[in-house]
Amino acid sequence: MADPIIVTEGLTRRFGDTVAVDGLALEVYPGEVFGFLGHNGAGKTTTVRLLNGVLTPSDGHARILGLDPMTDGPALRRLTGVLTETPSLDERLTARVNLSIYADLYGVSKTEVKRRVDQLLAAFDLTERADDKVGEYSKGMKQRLALARTVIHQPTLLFLDEPTAALDPVAARQVHAMILSTAREGRTVFINTHNLVEAQRMCDRVGVMEHGRLVALGTPHELARSLARNVSVEFELAPGSAEQAMTALQAMPVQVSAGQRNGTVLVSGAEREAIPDLIDRLVSAHVRIYQVTPQEPTLEDVYFALHSDAEVKQ
Ligand SMILES: Nc1ncnc2c1ncn2[C@@H]1O[C@H](COP(=O)(O)OP(=O)(O)O)[C@@H](O)[C@H]1O
Ligand SMILES: [Mg+2]
Repeated sequence: MADPIIVTEGLTRRFGDTVAVDGLALEVYPGEVFGFLGHNGAGKTTTVRLLNGVLTPSDGHARILGLDPMTDGPALRRLTGVLTETPSLDERLTARVNLSIYADLYGVSKTEVKRRVDQLLAAFDLTERADDKVGEYSKGMKQRLALARTVIHQPTLLFLDEPTAALDPVAARQVHAMILSTAREGRTVFINTHNLVEAQRMCDRVGVMEHGRLVALGTPHELARSLARNVSVEFELAPGSAEQAMTALQAMPVQVSAGQRNGTVLVSGAEREAIPDLIDRLVSAHVRIYQVTPQEPTLEDVYFALHSDAEVKQ
């Protein structure tokens, strides 16, 4: 495997009595889309700020692309693009001018600027409105412009802090597609998010943060498998049998609800071993079953599994 592009060891940051990041040990590899997942206050933004040299660690260290963010800041900034939680664009200027200013700031050569800006406006679907003031843009357009700006100097590594948090689902989807296409150009992408669906859709691997600690790490699939102990199962039944099925399963230690599709019931909170018993019950009650489909556990299940653990420990 290639050398990691991000390595942290014992990375810690305290603010007074708060330990925002607590002994983080993490490796991120070239070409990965890595999701850093956690609720508000989990320590995601603080981590990214430590990785960018904006904050000094209280303890431990990080190396990014072989550089130390504290001492090699300028070299690192040429190789990384950062989308902060609330990116500031100049709303009085057009998208084209916003991008051109950044291109200059990042030392893109004069002859290159126009070509690069045109190319990014097209890639981020902003060409038509390129000469309108950014203040007139929708949230989704502003975020696409902010994203275009982070790649103006063709960085190797991108940090995106909650890139779709303020967007409606349609705009979020567009931004997802654009992030994935910039990743496919060979970039490594580190995404902070509290959105499980986003992480599951986009990320090769995810780390889950809680109170500054990394509590889980793996592919979305691995995490869902290892942590979600209880499974959900969808039963497709003969028409009109849903009610009968719900009555038959009443005494079982599971939650039963009408499924999303007509004629189905969804059983959740079942141990895998209990599935045959559920089927037995239904058959004994003369419920006719057409199909039994275990539902793939999601990161949401992982989250709840982690949370119920934390609650038990407290
Ligand atoms: N500059 C700061 N001063 C004091 N406390 C801070 C500061 N930045 C973050 N924190 C605290 O550190 C913890 C982690 O915050 P943050 O990294 O922003 O979490 P996240 O991005 O996961 O929502 C929170 O308890 C937050 O209040
Ligand atoms: Mg944050």
